[in-house]
Amino acid sequence: MSEAKQNQPGPPLWLLAELTYECPLHCPYCSNPVNLGSREQECDTDTWLRVLSEARAMGAVQLGFSGGEPLLRKDLEVLVKHASDLGFYTNLITSGIGLTEKRIAALREAGLDHIQLSFQAANADANDLIGNKRHSFEQKLKVAKLVKQYEYPMVLNFCLTAQNIDQIDDVMALSCELDGDYVELATVQYYGWAYLNRDHLLPAKAQLEEAEARVNAFRAKQQGKGPHFIFVTPDYYEDRPKACMNGWGTTFLTVTPDGSALPCHSAKILPLTFPNVREKSIQSIWQEDFSFNHFRGTDWLPSPCKTCDEKDKDFGGCRCQAYMLTGDMYKTDPVCSKSPDHGLMAQAVKNSESPSRELVYRDPKVSIPITEI
Ligand code: FES
Repeated sequence: MSEAKQNQPGPPLWLLAELTYECPLHCPYCSNPVNLGSREQECDTDTWLRVLSEARAMGAVQLGFSGGEPLLRKDLEVLVKHASDLGFYTNLITSGIGLTEKRIAALREAGLDHIQLSFQAANADANDLIGNKRHSFEQKLKVAKLVKQYEYPMVLNFCLTAQNIDQIDDVMALSCELDGDYVELATVQYYGWAYLNRDHLLPAKAQLEEAEARVNAFRAKQQGKGPHFIFVTPDYYEDRPKACMNGWGTTFLTVTPDGSALPCHSAKILPLTFPNVREKSIQSIWQEDFSFNHFRGTDWLPSPCKTCDEKDKDFGGCRCQAYMLTGDMYKTDPVCSKSPDHGLMAQAVKNSESPSRELVYRDPKVSIPITEI
């Protein structure tokens, strides 16, 4: 094998196609960027078809159609069909709003493999309040039934925050009632709108511990039957960072509605210039672009990561989190207890006890400069 070939990264196995940032819901924990852009900037159908073909040719196998709400794209079925013909395993990541029986049948016909349906809470009042949309809970219940009726594997996703985490028993009971296959009980991670609202959303440590204990007790009673529950804790109470995206530029490729290609869904906040799929091929983006190579591997690591024996496990943690919290994307993720900035995590927890600003709904009509975060 030539040396050039040996040094090339493996393919982007997981492609996330963020088709639109428009969404019928307005959840304050949304991880979409605070500047959502406009629908006029979205890639057209032909561009997406090309992106899918190029990513698959490189070896991508998993494809998530996401947003915003991907159902708002009228060409979703065309894209699913193309992806399915190419041999992708396709996943629709949806709020369920707008998923009629006609549409779910058409998506089935197009070859969609998998549906991930989000809920905001376990009852209508809380659900509709968090998403700021009346009757959305009712619609989600109908969609969950349709998903099962059309024999899709169903992943239910509940984003947990200080506002709904105490309902964890009801969430698990609802998941059983709906016959979910997998249930993500995901404590929100703080990116985009969620970062803006972090002081309100971050659960207290006691809330988190109580919820985890309840999930463990519920699992013990299940005796292997019913949904498989996955409990995700927020970084803010950890002392080691996650290997974000499995390592920068190793596995994940996100393409945003305007065609920006990113190593993670949040990277656009970083002071780096990212390529656009309208101007470059997926292959050249993945293999050659400066931004994708910038944090690949461990050569770039700062101190104390450089000499740490865990550096191959977490690659210095999340670049976006380091940037948001310290203002320097080259620093060790402050989640790590070895980071000189680790005190910022305790400070964030303290701030959450008395938030200094109001909680805001994600609202595409309001544009807030990133510097205000
Ligand atoms: Fe961007 Fe972690 S979310 S590197």
